[in-house]
Amino acid sequence: MTKEKVLEALKNVTYPGFTKDIVTFNFVKDIEISDNRVALSLDITSSAPEVKEQLNKDIEVELKKIGASEVIATIIQPKAPKEMSNSMSGKNLAPQVKNFVMVSSGKGGVGKSTTSVNLAIAMAMQGKKVGLLDADIYGPNVPRMMGLLDQKPEIQGNKVLPLKAYGVEVMSMGSLMEPGQSLIWRGSMIMKAIEQFLRDILWSELDVLVIDMPPGTGDAQLTLAQSVPVTAGVTVTTPQEVSLDDSRRSLDMFQKLHIPIAGVIENMSGFICPSCETESDIFGMGTSEAVAKEFDSTLMVRIPIEPAIRIGGDTGMPIVYHKPDSETAKRYQEAANKLIAFIDKVNEEGGADNSGIQPTTPPGVSACSTGTAPQQSSGGSCGTGCGCH
Ligand SMILES: Nc1ncnc2c1ncn2[C@@H]1O[C@H](COP(=O)(O)OP(=O)(O)OP(=O)(O)O)[C@@H](O)[C@H]1O
Ligand SMILES: [Mg+2]
Repeated sequence: MTKEKVLEALKNVTYPGFTKDIVTFNFVKDIEISDNRVALSLDITSSAPEVKEQLNKDIEVELKKIGASEVIATIIQPKAPKEMSNSMSGKNLAPQVKNFVMVSSGKGGVGKSTTSVNLAIAMAMQGKKVGLLDADIYGPNVPRMMGLLDQKPEIQGNKVLPLKAYGVEVMSMGSLMEPGQSLIWRGSMIMKAIEQFLRDILWSELDVLVIDMPPGTGDAQLTLAQSVPVTAGVTVTTPQEVSLDDSRRSLDMFQKLHIPIAGVIENMSGFICPSCETESDIFGMGTSEAVAKEFDSTLMVRIPIEPAIRIGGDTGMPIVYHKPDSETAKRYQEAANKLIAFIDKVNEEGGADNSGIQPTTPPGVSACSTGTAPQQSSGGSCGTGCGCH
């Protein structure tokens, strides 16, 4: 028996919940063989005990097939996060989902969708039950980025089953419409679409639903915050001053919507040259730290400009999954760790609460429409009918 033979056999052990094997994921660290006894160690990304148990079983089966008399697998797991709970009050259209994360930016094209996709997969790789809602109804990009372009969701009664890719449940307007079609959205239609995404999609009992927002601070953001208690807001920005101005707007919106701010992700921050792997400064680096501080928050991580990120998005092969050893994938994993820790902290402190931003307009009238509806200004309202103050 040789190390090569052992590695070959371990390629038949798929990582639970995924289609790739533990060798491809680079989880197998040391292999020692004496006579026919094999001792090996694995460093995996999930803290779930079921994952460890399953791997132990599968590894033993595969190695015994090639003649191992005894198999000792030491599986190293990250520390288990505390139980997440949805201890919220206010309105919640998707109560089976424990936590909601809004990924936002003041400006378009800074990498919200790319960040949402990679963060969602990173959390799934860490053993969380994760969903990804593409709430960018104007420009849904998630189906392409998740490799789901030609898949249509299954309808069950008057509900829709989410699609699944990379261990993540996914729903997007792009998966419900014909490719290339455009819709002209009114404020009230946006509200309805967002509400349906939460109420009429059969999300499982998810630990986290990551929500990729359209750019800016508009009806979609307000409706979402009024429909579910958002546990954490993540602002994506690029390092240039002009983008930072916009990210202040996004952080200010989180405050107005009573959304706890998990932090800022500085995207396209530096450039990692693919041939030499050195990092150079293009748009500036680390500039968003000061902006985050203005809002008592932190810079969660800097993600460099890297051709592999763009290619991963265009081809539906996200970098965090397909190049788990790359520096960028590690940074997405770091951001996912920080986000999970932040969610735990919010829940320990009582959970998210959207009761203070409920609409003050009568039922059936868009809380954000231009004000033809009679106003029911009550205590604490901003008096514009927007319901946030
Ligand atoms: N760090 C990066 N390195 C290289 N390319 C990137 C990086 N981040 C994003 N991109 C690419 O930039 C483009 C825009 O990114 P993305 O679609 O994620 O932005 P967005 O903020 O969601 O845009 P929109 O506001 O239009 O929804 C995509 O082609 C994406 O692949
Ligand atoms: Mg986008």
